[in-house]
Amino acid sequence: METMINVIVNGVLGKMGAESGRAIDADPGLDLVAGLDVGADLALSISQHAADVVLDFTNPTVVRQNVETIIDAGAHAVVGTTGLSETDLAELDARAKVKGVGVLVCPNFAIGAVLMMEFAAKAAQYMPHVEIIEYHHNQKADAPSGTAIKTADLIAESNPQVNVIPLVETELVKGARGGTYKNIPIHSVRLPGYVAHQEVILGGLGQTLRIRHDSIDRESFMPGVCLAIKKVASLTGLTYGLEKVL
Ligand SMILES: NC(=O)c1ccc[n+]([C@@H]2O[C@H](COP(=O)([O-])OP(=O)(O)OC[C@H]3O[C@@H](n4cnc5c(N)ncnc54)[C@H](OP(=O)(O)O)[C@@H]3O)[C@@H](O)[C@H]2O)c1
Repeated sequence: METMINVIVNGVLGKMGAESGRAIDADPGLDLVAGLDVGADLALSISQHAADVVLDFTNPTVVRQNVETIIDAGAHAVVGTTGLSETDLAELDARAKVKGVGVLVCPNFAIGAVLMMEFAAKAAQYMPHVEIIEYHHNQKADAPSGTAIKTADLIAESNPQVNVIPLVETELVKGARGGTYKNIPIHSVRLPGYVAHQEVILGGLGQTLRIRHDSIDRESFMPGVCLAIKKVASLTGLTYGLEKVL
């Protein structure tokens, strides 16, 4: 018989936390031992419930502290919350290695989004003029999205020559050309009606290629969330991206 994994959802009253709680409840290999939100004692709850894994879907302002608490309590962490910087990732990796636990940070749990990122990175090897547009609901706390940052990381890694020729242009309205990360302009749209969407546009002579992914419902993330929870215990240190455990 499959061993049950004891899971805590942190941020359970939020949009992603609530959806994840339902998905974990429905998964016969996972036992939802607690759902926590603002004001709960995370470290105490981990020890009281003998939690194996904590899934964090909280807020960019608190995610680093939460992951430190999870590591120090000796549990594994699956992190969907955005906002961890490259420095945060490196320092959490070192901390997790000392404790011998796994931390799996996934900017996007949807398999289609993971493929979109990989296809974009591949395409940028042949079409080095690239911009990213991401679209989210208007309650999203941060911009750009973690998926957009991860996409830009993968593109820049795949082809360091993207957008190297500077454009001659004047920005009449500040921000009109988006924010630039790893030499790639990222444009963030925030409107009610969207869930999570992104397109990567690659331009060439006389042609454009658009690679687009749409999460039209938060259930799109749930198979990836449950898979990440099942895989994280096999990792030591920090792993960045769902594709590493597919
Ligand atoms: N990786 C992915 O695939 C993916 C997909 C979608 C979203 N996200 C990211 O996941 C995060 C959550 O998104 P969401 O849409 O679910 O946000 P949300 O609806 O605002 O939910 C966040 C929840 O966490 C709570 N919270 C805040 N600080 C906390 C703390 N210190 N301890 C425990 N709970 C705390 C919030 O309470 P209050 O409302 O009282 O502050 C809220 O209930 C965001 O960073 C978002 O960008 C990732």
